[in-house]
Amino acid sequence: MTYAGVIERRFGDGGPSGEGSPDNEFIRRVISRKTVRRYSDAIPDETLLDLLVAAALSASAKSDFQQASILRVTDPAKRAAIGALFPGMPWIGLSPVFFVFLGDARRLQRIGQLRDKPVRNGTLEGFFNASIDAALALQTMTLCAESTGLGVCPISVLRNEIDKVADILSLPDLVFPVAGLCLGYPQGEGHVSLRLPRRVTTHRDAYDDSGLSGALDDYDRRRNARHAIPMDQHRSNAEFGEAAFYGWSEDKARQAAKAEGAAFPPYLRAHGFTFD
Ligand SMILES: Cc1cc2nc3c(=O)[nH]c(=O)nc-3n(C[C@H](O)[C@H](O)[C@H](O)COP(=O)(O)O)c2cc1C
Repeated sequence: MTYAGVIERRFGDGGPSGEGSPDNEFIRRVISRKTVRRYSDAIPDETLLDLLVAAALSASAKSDFQQASILRVTDPAKRAAIGALFPGMPWIGLSPVFFVFLGDARRLQRIGQLRDKPVRNGTLEGFFNASIDAALALQTMTLCAESTGLGVCPISVLRNEIDKVADILSLPDLVFPVAGLCLGYPQGEGHVSLRLPRRVTTHRDAYDDSGLSGALDDYDRRRNARHAIPMDQHRSNAEFGEAAFYGWSEDKARQAAKAEGAAFPPYLRAHGFTFD
């Protein structure tokens, strides 16, 4: 497919088409990427997995502090124990491969101790830097894996059961999961998810979101025409009532109104983070 084709499928917003730029297979693949939650039985080669880990750890890292760690869960009992925590997401227990990308603020603090320097890395800065390093490693593995025909699904829901996950994986203080990553060869086609129009998510020279409301209505309508949200997936009808039109923004507003991740802040505070 041309740049114009993949961009239209991703955004459908009538914005820049990329045509005229030199052809680049990787960019076309990135614009066409999709999260994969169902996998064939094929097991990726260990050598390929090693390569993907090397690629992930080649992501840039704040101040060269290198605060990402990658934990692969291979023990069937541990896989099953983690999977059982999230019965609504069976792909967590079933994917052929499962990694956990860790924000690792511990290593730098240990380096400080080993070099006899007063490093306190449980600060907001330490947390933020470690989170970003882990997220960049996660996304680097994602794009590299997808470039080889693999499919992945990041798993941040791990943080909703952080105490149990940390126990299963023996995570020490100052080390926390940013997200898991299910990985395997896709079963089925899936679909490219329509993104918000770029006039909403891009700005030039100054931030301006004055057009949000109208753009959202347009996006909801276009997204609904491609992939309507099935009735049985409408959230919180008891609380908010049945929506006359249940589009993406209605769904996300309802989702975000139910705070997620309540266990995460107390876990972090009890495990070395002061956020000062
Ligand atoms: C940090 C992060 C965490 C995510 N956590 C989950 C998760 O716990 N479970 C899940 O099924 N999908 C998860 N996803 C996948 C998103 O739902 C998915 O990326 C989004 O719906 C957009 O779809 P697309 O990637 O196919 O464009 C996560 C994605 C990211 C980036």
